[in-house]
Amino acid sequence: MVTKMTTGKITSETTTETEKKQLYIKTYGCQMNVYDSNRMSDILLPLGFEMTEDLEKADMAIYNTCHIREKASEKLYSDLGRVKPHKIRRVARGEDMLIAVAGCTAQAEGAEVMRRAPYVDMVFGPQSYQELPEMVARAMRTKEKRDNPLLRGAGVLNVAFPENPKFDTLPEMTNVEGASAFLSIQEGCDKFCHFCVVPYTRGAEYSRPVKDVLKDARRLIELGVKEVTLLGQNVNAYHGESPNSAGQEWSLGRLIQEIAEFDAFEIIRYITSHPRDVSQDLIEAHRDVKKLSPYLHLPVQSGSSRILKAMNRKHDRDFYFKLIDRFREARPDIAFSSDFIVGFPGEDDRDHKETLDLIRQVNYAQAYSFKYSQRPGTPAWASEQQVDETLKGERLAELQALLNEQQTAFNQKCVGQEMEVLFERKARHEGQLSGRSPYMQSVYVQANPRLINTVVPVRIIGCGNNSLTGEVVVLDN
Ligand code: SAH
Ligand code: SF4
Ligand code: F3S
Repeated sequence: MVTKMTTGKITSETTTETEKKQLYIKTYGCQMNVYDSNRMSDILLPLGFEMTEDLEKADMAIYNTCHIREKASEKLYSDLGRVKPHKIRRVARGEDMLIAVAGCTAQAEGAEVMRRAPYVDMVFGPQSYQELPEMVARAMRTKEKRDNPLLRGAGVLNVAFPENPKFDTLPEMTNVEGASAFLSIQEGCDKFCHFCVVPYTRGAEYSRPVKDVLKDARRLIELGVKEVTLLGQNVNAYHGESPNSAGQEWSLGRLIQEIAEFDAFEIIRYITSHPRDVSQDLIEAHRDVKKLSPYLHLPVQSGSSRILKAMNRKHDRDFYFKLIDRFREARPDIAFSSDFIVGFPGEDDRDHKETLDLIRQVNYAQAYSFKYSQRPGTPAWASEQQVDETLKGERLAELQALLNEQQTAFNQKCVGQEMEVLFERKARHEGQLSGRSPYMQSVYVQANPRLINTVVPVRIIGCGNNSLTGEVVVLDN
């Protein structure tokens, strides 16, 4: 049975109705969620939906949620509070609205979402959205049976981890905007850092077979992609089945070498790496693969070996320094970014100073930093050594001031350099285009709009705190 949405009323019967239903998707959290939202639209668009950014028009609204910090989950409930009146108005007009909560908060507290927002029709986790057609059909059947379409809600709760990976049944990628795309190669995490919900919300570590990754890479090329970002929660834990010999596996470094063989890809990136999983061939890929951006997001979380141990990060401060040196040796123009957590339980002033010291020694191009947030179900949640919120705030401010200083200095150092930039869109200023530098800064350039979706050499001529300005390098020939 094909599930179609027809005008006015949602039905689960096969229909030839051509008017498209409107699909609204809001994405919270990390790049994995951005990827998943795109794949959800790949599933739903052939069922008679088209995308809208207008919630009032939405026949279906999906909230693809994040659970990483308390604030991220709270955001969902405030957004659900906001969508409720839209649903009431639509129901009053004789129309309907399906509300779905997807992603990591759905996985972690699906039953709670249904309890707090009974007008939600579907709740499903990051490993079950490939079942969307059946779930939509089921939610609609449930709704048809209900006397109050607004309040009964929650026809579908699907948060089991399936036996077979979702990638086996996802449709071909179609929804790619522009010439830059994510390619998910790895999912889930077995590291169990003591602060983190990801191993519980995304499930066990899984690497896609190389042949499947290469198939998707070819598909992205058909869609005009020139910049590919290999994606995974612990992307460098990648160990996908070799396409050549049974029982053998490829590392991320080996995979990058292969992806680089596709001429159509001009820029290759990957995110997010774990220090423990850096292998020699990844460092060599940075040395040998010209298309690989000289940029590495390598979260360290803390500069104190004592806290790293308490966090269960499986590496210490010296180990991290040694990695940084090895990358710099292999690729002298490489720049680093990181994530930091301040105020992990038991962190004292000395630990905090060690983090500041690590930042000074590494010298980052940019970084993300957060106050530790107590997450239910994680080992650190129960610790009795929680750090006072005000103190966390002070430490965060100090750390961010240092990181900002380094970011500004890094941006200044870029002035005068020549960089390859994929122009992505028209910028706000008349005549300007914007793209990203190899180091992920936004770059603004006066240029012909015909250059959108092409990779162009740009000379950097100015900088701000968060962005660069440049001019197209005119090649003499
Ligand atoms: N897999 C990646 C990170 C995933 S989560 C890695 O291992 O590096 C992204 C970032 O959110 C983490 O790097 C961490 O800095 C932050 N984070 C995770 N849990 C957190 C918590 N409970 N409180 C504050 N920040 C957290
Ligand atoms: Fe979370 Fe640690 Fe896994 Fe990263 S490595 S996803 S921080 S548990
Ligand atoms: Fe958030 Fe889940 Fe990503 S918790 S950071 S959306 S993996």
